[in-house]
Amino acid sequence: MSLEEKLKKLSEMREVARLGGGADRVEAQHKKGKLTARERLEILLDKNSFEEFDMFVTHRTSDFGLDDKKILGDGVVTGCGTIEGRQVFVFSQDFTVFGGSLSQAHAEKICKIMDMAMKVGAPVIGLNDSGGARIQEGVVSLGGYADIFLRNTLASGVIPQFSVILGPCAGGAVYSPAITDFILMVKNTSYMFVTGPNVVKTVTHEVVTSEELGGAVVHASKSGVAHFACENEAEALTTLRKLLSYIPQNNLEDPPFVETNDPFDREDEALNTIVPDNPNKSYDIKDVIHHIVDNGEFLEIQPDFAANIVIGFARLGGRSLGIIANQPAVLAGVLDIASSNKAARFIRFCDAFNIPLLTFEDVPGFLPGVDQEHGGIIKNGAKLLYAYCEATVPKVTVITRKAYGGAYDVMNSKHVRGDMNYGWPTAEIAVMGPKGAVEIIFKKEIEKAKDPETELTKKTDEYREKFANPFIAAAYGYLDDIIEPKTTRPRLIRAFQMLETKKDQNPPKKHGNIPL
Ligand code: HXC
Repeated sequence: MSLEEKLKKLSEMREVARLGGGADRVEAQHKKGKLTARERLEILLDKNSFEEFDMFVTHRTSDFGLDDKKILGDGVVTGCGTIEGRQVFVFSQDFTVFGGSLSQAHAEKICKIMDMAMKVGAPVIGLNDSGGARIQEGVVSLGGYADIFLRNTLASGVIPQFSVILGPCAGGAVYSPAITDFILMVKNTSYMFVTGPNVVKTVTHEVVTSEELGGAVVHASKSGVAHFACENEAEALTTLRKLLSYIPQNNLEDPPFVETNDPFDREDEALNTIVPDNPNKSYDIKDVIHHIVDNGEFLEIQPDFAANIVIGFARLGGRSLGIIANQPAVLAGVLDIASSNKAARFIRFCDAFNIPLLTFEDVPGFLPGVDQEHGGIIKNGAKLLYAYCEATVPKVTVITRKAYGGAYDVMNSKHVRGDMNYGWPTAEIAVMGPKGAVEIIFKKEIEKAKDPETELTKKTDEYREKFANPFIAAAYGYLDDIIEPKTTRPRLIRAFQMLETKKDQNPPKKHGNIPL
């Protein structure tokens, strides 16, 4: 065969590989409102940047008549490409080929790009659309999953890992995305569960649809498994591109710097009036964030899960930050099991990838209740505390209003290595809220008083006057300064600039034992 003929054959084989499971199955995929594996890569990656690996890989099974059903690529498209010019490694499962199911060869292709990503220090993105383990292959397919889980775990904290769920993701297959750093799902076309509706019905007699059991909305609001529930696939893929812009390539790099036209010294009058005079009135902490960060741009993560704490990425003076903020507009910003877990995982992600942390604090304490105690608020709240304590990235706190009880300690106080801690003049820092405190320490006086109600109000006002302000904390140096709200942006930019060369370390150890 001449070179020309060989090249023709190569080009024909590439054409066949690109067809995946064939035109009919592609049409069926489109009818479900889903894109193909390759169409997804076109949206995700910079134009013409994709370099494909292992296009000619096929499965090695002869059981169940599979020996004459070999499809080039074996149900997953893998390779590398760029996003905004930065290298990423990707796998994109092709549901048109054996339902995107994972064979030994399919798993090896995924492992190959994960190993390469670790060698060169670049993120891995998985586009998941799969019927799970290739049933005809049995244990080698299960082994393939475990090979991926191990790599996900070893890569955790070294390179960022992202999972986009664009179809089924069921059984043990869910545990690869679960170990990755961020999960993005699409409403109505993607679902994740350990056991599907049929098994659930047999075992517990509960009747649910796939969407109700493990759809995007459920995981983004109830379980907290997903970080984004997107309207369609294009939105999921473009959200991921945006997310990546805040994150470095690996744990040895800093996040990318993005020039901003928002002046570093911009003061914002609106901040002076956001916190209401009445301490029991709520306000939206996201308004505070928007008025401070570069161009008001804030990429919120898990907006619909545990909304009493807000987390997400923004920039100050062009530098990427992870923001954690109690949300007074939801449950008065109280800390509970879900919000502690949500924030703790985010803090650990940021710390692993050199992303400085900015905390806005307005927290009345931990949520009381039998459900919370029996659900383990002790160990779950401890996760948040542990995450703040162990983080060594630059850590800045602004107390906008309440900082009560254990929650004061937890929310990046000076005592847990907060680098710069600011209070607004509206800050109230005490062991507990004024009324609760007075009811305990003046119990007898109030009971004996002629008019207990008036006595309670009088004592509460006295207590508030004494403790519900930032001056005592500032007198101890627990706050580095009390700042006028409108000056917060310039003050924070200067603080993070000052902290840019910060170096801090934890004692050498194999790993800590976070209360799981
Ligand atoms: C082999 C599979 C497959 C699988 C789907 N297909 N899943 N082939 N192994 N796991 C094939 C189908 O036979 C079919 O081939 C094609 O893919 C499309 O599937 P359909 O069923 O026609 O599509 P749809 O109606 O959309 O249903 C999708 C589905 C369903 C819900 C995913 O296919 C399904 O329930 N599959 C099995 C899911 C499952 O139980 N997997 C194992 C889970 S346990 P043809 O040629 O007929 O078109 C697991 C363990 C992981 O994954 C362990 C990790 C620890």
